[in-house]
Amino acid sequence: MKYIFKKLTEAKEKGLYRGDFKYLDSCQAPRVEIDGREIILLGSNNYLGLCNDARLKEAAVQAVNQYGVGAGGSRLTTGSYVLHRKLEEKIAEFKGTESSIVFNTGYMANVGVISTLCDRKWVIFCDKYNHASIIDGCLLSRARLIRYKHCDMKDLERKIREYKGENNLIVTDGVFSMEGDLAPLSDIIKLAKEHEMLIMVDDAHGMGVLGENGSGTVSYFNANEDVDIQMGTLSKAAASVGGYVAGKKYLIDYLRNFSRSFIFSTALPPASIAVSLESIDIIRNDVNRRNYLKELTQWFKEELEFAGFHVTDTITPIIPLIVGDAGKTVEFFKNLLEDGIYVPAIRPPAVPKGSSRLRISLMATHTYNDLQYVLDKVKLHGKRLGVIEG
Ligand SMILES: Cc1ncc(COP(=O)(O)O)c(C=O)c1O
Repeated sequence: MKYIFKKLTEAKEKGLYRGDFKYLDSCQAPRVEIDGREIILLGSNNYLGLCNDARLKEAAVQAVNQYGVGAGGSRLTTGSYVLHRKLEEKIAEFKGTESSIVFNTGYMANVGVISTLCDRKWVIFCDKYNHASIIDGCLLSRARLIRYKHCDMKDLERKIREYKGENNLIVTDGVFSMEGDLAPLSDIIKLAKEHEMLIMVDDAHGMGVLGENGSGTVSYFNANEDVDIQMGTLSKAAASVGGYVAGKKYLIDYLRNFSRSFIFSTALPPASIAVSLESIDIIRNDVNRRNYLKELTQWFKEELEFAGFHVTDTITPIIPLIVGDAGKTVEFFKNLLEDGIYVPAIRPPAVPKGSSRLRISLMATHTYNDLQYVLDKVKLHGKRLGVIEG
């Protein structure tokens, strides 16, 4: 079809074409095998380095032996296992909420909760840099969508005064996935209280990294009582798969009954649920892992800043190297790959036009040695490409 070819050609011309996937032939770890070469991996969401953890592998094996491999049905029919119930209880306890519900992915959780809660009678105030799954949930809900400038509380307040309706929701990422910065949650809470609005936080990138016992951004801001909907994913620091929503019992009951992305999909297999159960325990107890990641991140950021890169002022292991032009970002990516470093090039629509970047993210299993090598190469190519001054 002409239309499809035209779209693909346009994407290629703008440096936005995605087809050349890198296929890993080893586990998700600081060093991976790609096309027979050992490569340093820098863009993973496996922040705590648990994807290859022996305890999690054992949990999966045990669950496979006891329950088999497939769930066999959706949660409302034959696909609910005792493990699902245990995980939902554990997430609620971990997040300090009354109840929780597990979806198959974070994407499905966002789409599910927003489109079930909101309809045409709602107004949703949404940070411009929120994750695509939040936007898709908003669009599916048919609520009025008002996007405010990234983390800009003046803009949010102005827009609330102008557009506030009968039912209102403010939704924000806790940690922004492509920036690594934190939402100004205390200020958002103040505005929400003043205007009697609900708050939802997507904590995909905060869980395991921030807050008391790694329970996430809401805990970091000491805001468990003030956030109505805590959403997150088990696919990043928890090294598993699945999304969740945690909150009041009646909210979770409502989602169980009406959320289409929960109802009309086969449940997650027992092995994935068993891994999530075990990894939440590890996240809670392994403080050293979290602290090491924090120290490593701080050192790495300081080194980048010293070399002249602009680095987000934040405490998370997400470190975007902003290049700007999409083509140049891909060139930077290719140069690093030739030197044995794999860091994804992020381009529109994942980020705004003109802000293409390499999204570096660190893992608690990276070593200072490997990262020193990375720094040398990033500086070298950054200078050559004019990202930093030579
Ligand atoms: C902020 C944010 N929310 C939601 C998701 C979706 O989670 P999942 O990968 O579990 O679908 C992601 C990442 O993919 C994310 O970065």
